[in-house]
Amino acid sequence: MSLSGFLIRMNRTEIESELSSLPLGAFRYFDTIGSTNDEALTWASQGAPDFSLILADEQTSGRGRMERKWFTPPRSALALSLILRPTNIENAHPSRTTGLLALSLAESLLQLGLAPQIKWPNDVLLGGRKVAGILVESSWMGERLDAMILGMGVNVLNASIPPADQLLFPATSIETELGRPVERGSLLREILSRVLDWRPKMGMDTFLKAWEEHLAFRGQQVQVEGRSGDPITGELLGLEPDGSLRLRNEHGRSVTVRFGEVHLRPLA
Ligand code: ATP
Ligand code: BTN
Repeated sequence: MSLSGFLIRMNRTEIESELSSLPLGAFRYFDTIGSTNDEALTWASQGAPDFSLILADEQTSGRGRMERKWFTPPRSALALSLILRPTNIENAHPSRTTGLLALSLAESLLQLGLAPQIKWPNDVLLGGRKVAGILVESSWMGERLDAMILGMGVNVLNASIPPADQLLFPATSIETELGRPVERGSLLREILSRVLDWRPKMGMDTFLKAWEEHLAFRGQQVQVEGRSGDPITGELLGLEPDGSLRLRNEHGRSVTVRFGEVHLRPLA
């Protein structure tokens, strides 16, 4: 494809053919949508099969955590949501699903020759800047976990990088870091193949280790801020089995930070 051919809307037929070798439950593509996660939640409640994929070229109300905005301008990013019907593995390790997407993207970026890092809990960085964000949501039927929605936005081409004044953390794109554009369909296929490979292994130590190996700021002093209470400062050691973050505080004690509304920053 010529370079100018990269800044075009995704084409449903081309994407379907790119993904044809993958065992997707079902597939819905949108040129433009509010939020792929919203569509996935609705579709899951209407019976979407396991491993169904929603993909959009553009989102007008993309969401991050706590209803923060996620920008997905047209022709430049990946915005996707995967619907998982929980198996025993997801039921046993629900909090590992964020790691499943983060690790699958990180390995795909590594294969492109980049050096991705996972900024716990839900971002992927290139060159210390955010290239992707992950939002996992659950839908319940009474006490039973009915579906997990694994949403991810990836800044692929330069045009996907939001204006700096709208960001709390600097952003980048794969194109910026690689110095050349990347085709979104083949990247998507690569990510999904890795999700399929890792999913049955999510309960294993090898999964946790692989996730941990890609963590940003390992061995460095970091600060974790929550919504309430004092920030926690310490050396970032790694992950607990449930995907929580393990730090060593200034008194040498091990401290666990659980998933939630927390912000991780390196200490300057
Ligand atoms: P943290 O401080 O832990 O990274 P955060 O404040 O970045 O959290 P998140 O919920 O992880 O918040 O991500 C949402 C934020 O990401 C938005 O508030 C916005 O600043 C930023 N953002 C939105 N769209 C993009 C994008 N396409 N690329 C990079 N960053 C984005
Ligand atoms: C974050 O960093 O807070 C997570 C951002 C998650 C964005 C993705 S884009 C696809 C899916 N649809 C949404 O509305 N959000 C997620």
